[in-house]
Amino acid sequence: MSQATLTRPSLAERYAAAFPLSRKLHEQARGVFPNGVTHDARHLLPFPVYVERAQGAHKWTVEGRELIDYWSGHGALLLGHGHPAVVEAVQRQMEKATHPGACHEREIEWGRWVQRLVPSAERIRFTASGTEATMMALRLARLFTGRPRVLKFAGHFHGWNDFLFPGADAPYDAAVPGIPAEVAQNTVIRPANDLDAVEQTLRADPQIGCVILEPTGGHWGQVPIRGPFLQGLRAITARYDRLLIFDEVITGFRVSPGGAQGHYGVKPDLTTLAKILAGGLPGGCVAGRADILAHLEFRPDKAKMRHPGTFNANPLSASAGIATLQIVAQGQACARANAIAQQLRQRLNALFAARGDACVAYGEFSCFKLLLGYKGPRPTGDDFVPYDGALDQLQRPPDTKLSHAFRQGMLLHGVDLMGLGGMTTAAHTEADVEQTVAAVASTLDLLSDAGLM
Ligand SMILES: Cc1ncc(COP(=O)(O)O)c(C=O)c1O
Repeated sequence: MSQATLTRPSLAERYAAAFPLSRKLHEQARGVFPNGVTHDARHLLPFPVYVERAQGAHKWTVEGRELIDYWSGHGALLLGHGHPAVVEAVQRQMEKATHPGACHEREIEWGRWVQRLVPSAERIRFTASGTEATMMALRLARLFTGRPRVLKFAGHFHGWNDFLFPGADAPYDAAVPGIPAEVAQNTVIRPANDLDAVEQTLRADPQIGCVILEPTGGHWGQVPIRGPFLQGLRAITARYDRLLIFDEVITGFRVSPGGAQGHYGVKPDLTTLAKILAGGLPGGCVAGRADILAHLEFRPDKAKMRHPGTFNANPLSASAGIATLQIVAQGQACARANAIAQQLRQRLNALFAARGDACVAYGEFSCFKLLLGYKGPRPTGDDFVPYDGALDQLQRPPDTKLSHAFRQGMLLHGVDLMGLGGMTTAAHTEADVEQTVAAVASTLDLLSDAGLM
């Protein structure tokens, strides 16, 4: 080994040297927050970067380092950061009222956009987050069907409420710390893409009132789901008289202006939405059949689901949401984000093939995922699914050391990935794709030098 190799700084040393202010802030944060972070996904060893501002598809750390952003506001941004129409709408509303503590015109306009775009949205109720939306959908389903249990799919994430968090990650049948067994036993977990298993389960268990899923696959398509499974689920749930809930918190207004249901032409009974719905501000909703949402109404002699919530239909979120949905309705934003993600997946796979890297990129619409240490055939087209969609291969817990080192390397090269993947916006460009591909190549070299790959 040459002297130069011996003295070359390690990846961790280079990372620490590149982000000294972030490191300092993280030291302070550790005295304030558990692990120093405010969201599990932002936990990064040895410390995460701190971001000062963002514009379009880029953001800048406190050190002034520019990053291509693939978090896209945890999926909440389809138009990119700081779209002028959204900024202007929020600023205008800010001067009028941030919380009138009253009904307001913006909420009607916001709800009407949802009705216009989302096929299943006969009625809508706004919440403060996606987690609240899935919690509400479940409670409405219980009231409507009189059946307490829910069927969900292994590896599908619906927020962190007690009834839907079990089974979100492998091992799927493990107890979730803090969730009582008597609560979790109301959640029945089955593998996705197996219609027979769903049918047998519904036939055997009359206590199940609804089936919920992420319609393009758990964790935004880690194990992809396609149209025939959605159509089959629609038919089976109708046959057994159970409700079908699409959790479109990520896919809503992203896959297409009408979400996954618009794209695949499958209408669920209830839909949960958040993220892009509120244009990058907090907010969510349940949309769906009028007869089900009628359980939120004050009606003589009818059971009512009570629904308070200080920030329901907050006018700032409504303003950002309206400005965003108006643009989404034109169709180009989803198409652009989808096309640029497809280009990124293809360019990455060409890179891996050329270098002979044990890696693959896959995904659908505006999402992409990377598998490091991939052992399988190279993709034959953009609809390729590694390991034929095997759950245990695609959702196996990541090697933390490797995945954190990979993210460090990517940050050093100006790219902020969301785990081992990300989501694109309409603001991402071909130049971003090229820089990302180059960053991946350099990062793989670093990992190889460090003996991690
Ligand atoms: C599919 C899905 N459902 C629900 C949620 C929860 O939404 P929120 O984070 O707004 O509570 C998320 C969050 O990422 C999600 O991806």
